[in-house]
Order: sequence, then C-alpha cells, then structure tokens
Amino acid sequence: MSQAALLQTDLPLPLARRGKVRDVYDVDADHLLLVTTDRISAFDVVMSEAIPYKGAVLTQLTAWWLAQLPADIPHHLITADTDEIIEAVPALAPYHAALAGRSMLTKKAEVVPIECVIRGYITGSAWKEYQTSGTLAGEALAAGLRESDRLDPPIFSPATKAETGHDENITIGTVIERVGADTAATLERLARTVYEFGRATAEPRGIIVADTKFEFGWRDGTLLLIDEVLTPDSSRFWPAGSYAPGRGQPSFDKQPLRDWLDVQRKAGRWNGEAPAPTLPPEVIRATSLRYRDAFLRLTGAPLDLARLGLPADQ
Ligand SMILES: Nc1ncnc2c1ncn2[C@@H]1O[C@H](COP(=O)(O)OP(=O)(O)OP(=O)(O)O)[C@@H](O)[C@H]1O
Ligand SMILES: [Mg+2]
Repeated sequence: MSQAALLQTDLPLPLARRGKVRDVYDVDADHLLLVTTDRISAFDVVMSEAIPYKGAVLTQLTAWWLAQLPADIPHHLITADTDEIIEAVPALAPYHAALAGRSMLTKKAEVVPIECVIRGYITGSAWKEYQTSGTLAGEALAAGLRESDRLDPPIFSPATKAETGHDENITIGTVIERVGADTAATLERLARTVYEFGRATAEPRGIIVADTKFEFGWRDGTLLLIDEVLTPDSSRFWPAGSYAPGRGQPSFDKQPLRDWLDVQRKAGRWNGEAPAPTLPPEVIRATSLRYRDAFLRLTGAPLDLARLGLPADQ
C-alpha cells in the first residue's frame, strides 16, 4: 500500500543525511537518492505529524521547474519517476510505496557550501537589517522601502549553510574569498536567472515567490543546480491576490499551521520548542490542501495521484 503521509524512510542504501524534511541516500559514487518525506517544520521545529502529499508536491514541483528552465541551466535531476528509479536501482523494488512520488534520482555533485539566496521582495531577516541600518548584506539599499516591497532588480544575498541553528548571511566579498571570483559570478548569474524565471512564471498564476534559496554543486567541471528548486520549503510563497506592501504577508502554504501554533503559544499550551503540540486533523488537512493548491496553481494541473502511485485523497 502506498502512503499519502510518511514521516521517515528506511531504505537499503547508505543514509547520507537526514535533514529536517529530506532523507538523502548514497546510491553509488555518482548518484544520490533524495527522498522528500512528509515532515513539516514551523518556527524551526519539526512537527510530529506528517502532511499528506507534501513530499510529492515538493518533489514533483522541483521536477516541473527543472523541466521548464532554459536548457542552458544544467541541473542534477535524472528522474523523479518511481518506476524509472527502481529500474535504475533494483534493490529499491520492495520500497515502491515509500518512494512513490516523493523521490528523485540525481547526479551526485560536490556541493558548493554557499546558500544562494535571492530576494525579490524585502521581508524576514532582510527587512530587519534594512530597518536597523538601511542595508542588506552590508550593501546600502534605496531609502523609504516598506516591509514586503518588491525589489528590482532582485538582490543576491548569499549565506553559509550552518550545521546547527540559522544560516549566516555573508557578503559577496566573502563568497569570492571562499570560492573564487569566477565561481562567485557564475553562482550569482545562475541564481538570478532561475529566480527571475520563477518569479515571472509564478506571479500571473497567483503566487509571489518573495525569495528563494538555491544550491549548486560541481560535477565534471560544470556547476549544476542541485537540491530542491523553487518549492515552498526553499522559498517564501505569498498569495498574490492579497499582497499589500507595508505589512508582513501570509505564507501561501504554512499559514494554517502557523496560525494554529500561534494560538497554542498565546494560550500557554506551547513554549515554542520541540516537541510541538499534536496537530489536529483539520490543520493537517488544511496544510495538505495548501501545498496541493500551490502545485495546481503553478503547474496548471493537480498533483496526479494515480500516476504517481499515491492513494486517493483522504
Ligand atoms: N545532487 C546533489 N549532490 C550532492 N548533494 C546534494 C545534491 N542535491 C542535494 N544535495 C544535498 O542534500 C542535502 C539535502 O538535505 P537537507 O539537509 O537540506 O535536507 P532538508 O530536509 O532540506 O533539511 P534542512 O531543512 O535542514 O535544510 C543538502 O545538504 C544538499 O546540499
Ligand atoms: Mg535543505
């Protein structure tokens, strides 16, 4: 039986890492298997419940974006089709149900240890820095920006991947010191190209991609776009219909969950640390529907549960 909601996988391959959301396995020296579970985090805490179809939305959305991108953006994806994955890695045959829809077979790359963040709207930590010093990543911005204002051109604001806690913003000068001027320029150019493509594609479809994070890795002398791409977990998605600068915007996908957690906190039922309170079924369902709605709006078609081998809506 395939599963709509899966918290963790246990596959017969060496586990390379378990992130907040993804279980990453080494297939061989050249290939990785990325399994996006249905775990969800909010306020930096991973919830105890899984969100049905979330892993499939993130995986299939990444695959969809990669298929839309201009051909001159090399990337790591080999396939997000479960049958093709099992054909390539026969040892996974008994695990079709766990893999269904939520897995990607990729080319393994040597990860560039820079989180390539692009911001097309000013919010979050960038808004905080701007309010304090009028800068973003140390560079002066135009005066008079309001919270959630659009940034044109978008701003490349790299960070280092921290093993624990929050990523640390770094200047372009620091990126150049770490990876060299040529690679730094390529990272910025690729990140801008993919983000601008994503922002322009999503906006008429009702979703503002306020900012996003890309990762890149080397493979045979080429920089590949790796990891997840333009998903609600790697980006801030805002509903375009209710967008108004001068205030914070709701999250397209996680707002039902965040709102409910806020109520629990204010009522003294949660201290904001792990473990989070048990999520009620209606919050799980509302969140699952938001993720699937994001997929539908962006791609123009609902997540095809039957084709992906996932159970019908529950
Ligand atoms: N093609 C690839 N080659 C090598 N590494 C890759 C590739 N694609 C993705 N990765 C790496 O896989 C890891 C994915 O796991 P990660 O820890 O980010 O999981 P996550 O669930 O997103 O957790 P978190 O929320 O903590 O980021 C990242 O470290 C990323 O750099
Ligand atoms: Mg990650």
